Amino acid sequence: MGKITISTLDKLKAAGEKFVCITAYDATFARLVSAAGAETILVGDSLGMVLQGHDSTIPVTVDDMVYHTECVCRGGPDSLVIADLPFMGHATPEVTMVNAARLMRAGAQMVKIEGGTWLSDTISMLVERGIPVCAHLGLTPQSVNAIGGFRVQGRTPKEAKSILADAVEIQDAGASLLVLECVPAPLATDISEKLDIPVIGIGAGPGTDAQVLVLHDMLGLSSHSARFVQNFMQGNDSIQAALQAFVAAVKSGAYPQEEHTYK
Ligand code: KIV
Repeated sequence: MGKITISTLDKLKAAGEKFVCITAYDATFARLVSAAGAETILVGDSLGMVLQGHDSTIPVTVDDMVYHTECVCRGGPDSLVIADLPFMGHATPEVTMVNAARLMRAGAQMVKIEGGTWLSDTISMLVERGIPVCAHLGLTPQSVNAIGGFRVQGRTPKEAKSILADAVEIQDAGASLLVLECVPAPLATDISEKLDIPVIGIGAGPGTDAQVLVLHDMLGLSSHSARFVQNFMQGNDSIQAALQAFVAAVKSGAYPQEEHTYK
């Protein structure tokens, strides 16, 4: 596939071709995910739940993220590697600069930050200093206590308007990508059409430019799965075949289906 860069993703969006993101936390899975053709790998702080066994991502530290980003990058993936800034890892612009630099030195090509317009200045500062940013709106799991649980966001017109406004402002601040998590499909489609930057959806319906799933969820290994998850091990006899099936399903539009989306 050759090394993927942000321009590859921009070109895919311009051509109307879907691309794929899968989480990975170690060298072996980074190699497999990349070989399956996923253009992007997310070293997600979901590792707090699927690797460490916590019931949220809040206990994950910057040291954890640096360690797993180094592991993923040692797998030598062609996929563009995005690393999450964990809970409080971007509490202030100064803290963010230091932590984002650590993730980039660990091998990431982009950092992901959860939050809305309060992050605009931070995003601009990162981009000005050569650190590409993926923003994350909708359900932001690091705010699970403030939100009152893992709930679909953007269901009321007021909430939907606010997420759209945040998305536009974050793009204007310089973000290169946006993850939209657990929002109604029509809102995600609207945002994807209005933004120039690629939008990666999870539980956001078929209208986004790309799809992401947590590795352990799509391999059917998680004890609980959300509505939007499909177990790609079903009907496939190896992990590699399941990863390839997910990539193919996103690219053909076969995933996500109606049953995976929120109205
Ligand atoms: O941490 C993670 O894996 C994520 C995805 C769910 C988008 O943020």
